Amino acid sequence: MFRTYVPSILFEPIDIGPVTMRNRIVSSASFSAMSDNGLFGERIALYHAEKAKAGVALTITEELAVHPSTEFGLSRNVRAFDRASIARFRRFTEIVHKYGAKTIGQLWHAGCHNLNRNQQLDIRIPLAVSPVPSMAFQDGYSVPRELTTREISEIQEDTRILRRICSTGDSMVWKSTRRTVT
Ligand SMILES: Cc1cc2nc3c(=O)[nH]c(=O)nc-3n(C[C@H](O)[C@H](O)[C@H](O)COP(=O)(O)O)c2cc1C
Repeated sequence: MFRTYVPSILFEPIDIGPVTMRNRIVSSASFSAMSDNGLFGERIALYHAEKAKAGVALTITEELAVHPSTEFGLSRNVRAFDRASIARFRRFTEIVHKYGAKTIGQLWHAGCHNLNRNQQLDIRIPLAVSPVPSMAFQDGYSVPRELTTREISEIQEDTRILRRICSTGDSMVWKSTRRTVT
């Protein structure tokens, strides 16, 4: 027996602030391990393009590291603080928009939750607001170092710049001349 088709609001557009989503289907953030030497490369762009082609209204990126102190030890994570990533984000945004979807960049600083277990990478002490180990990821030795006021300002500045880049979409700009982002 066939069921009667009941129209769902799932497929109806919705306004979120100034942006109109074509429906209410969202693909949540998902670490892809596909970065191109730390940059947001073609593979990741095509991965999100497939979601856009399939009809999602919004696709959210994986974690984008806002500062060198949050390279969290998983290989192939995205180093968004690297200036070379700007062109890649532009290409990514273009391709997602081309297939009718929107996107949000997930800006990321892991603090005490940095995973520094990958022996292939530099093992660095996580930086956090206090020297208290992560309750979520207990590796037995990662007691974070307390951030200095200067480091907090640096991370805030990088996050602010990246937020501006993400929010400007197609016309991304990069105005900083600071050490960690040039
Ligand atoms: C492989 C994998 C990678 C993920 N990567 C991220 C991520 O980068 N950022 C994030 O906030 N959540 C991440 N998540 C969490 C998902 O976005 C989602 O919240 C979670 O999987 C729960 O949804 P589900 O029950 O539909 O799987 C990830 C989940 C999985 C399974």
